[in-house]
Amino acid sequence: MQDSVVTWGFKESFRSYISGSIAQGEWLVQGEVTYDTPSFRFEGGTGSVSPNRTQGNLRYEGSFVFKGHSGILETSLSNPVLKFDSDSRAVLFLDVVGDTMDEVSVESDDVAFATVSWSEETIDPASGTWSITDAAVVLTEDGAAAFGTYPAGEEMDPMDIAVSVTPGCLEEPQQPWGIVLGALGLGALVSVLGLVFTRVRKSREQGRQ
Ligand code: HEM
Repeated sequence: MQDSVVTWGFKESFRSYISGSIAQGEWLVQGEVTYDTPSFRFEGGTGSVSPNRTQGNLRYEGSFVFKGHSGILETSLSNPVLKFDSDSRAVLFLDVVGDTMDEVSVESDDVAFATVSWSEETIDPASGTWSITDAAVVLTEDGAAAFGTYPAGEEMDPMDIAVSVTPGCLEEPQQPWGIVLGALGLGALVSVLGLVFTRVRKSREQGRQ
């Protein structure tokens, strides 16, 4: 992988709660995580993706920390990892440290925080670019337990992911008609083999008579 940028607002309502009159707080960023209103950016990082984009991971060293309520709220989310597990889904892992609103102290590494799934993407094998826009990010059970307040299944802000690899190292996306033609081809092959097999059997039977 040559480069990648992930753009994600985390959750707009949480940002406005933090910066508003209730929590009167702020957020800080560090390392490969930056903030450019209204989104966090994970940039640089390391990792790889398979040419057909069904496997791989992107890792960033850095963190974003939410603070509020004069220090009672301080949740740090660090070292984001996106682990691709199909051509339209990844899992976002985060290290989580903080107290939930129910006063449960959490310090967990590699929490499978949210699922990221998409239907909109553009792939350009010639230039080696792959970009996903508006991926749905949904909090998992583990994410809900570590962050608190929001239940599992909560919609977070949508995520954009842009990856660039060595030109020529990404496969063309599989077209639906490609799958249909493939299935037709396989069907034709099976019929031909069936025909040959019957012929051979018939000629053997004739030979025995
Ligand atoms: C002094 C302690 C705290 C007080 C008084 C407090 C108060 C509140 C209140 C009144 C709301 C409702 C805001 C609204 O409906 O607009 C809220 C929402 C919330 N609080 Fe706290 N809170 C405290 C600590 C925490 C801590 C430690 C966390 C940990 C992350 C937290 C996370 C949240 C979240 C995620 C929401 C929902 C925000 C949204 O998306 O609307 N709170 N809190």
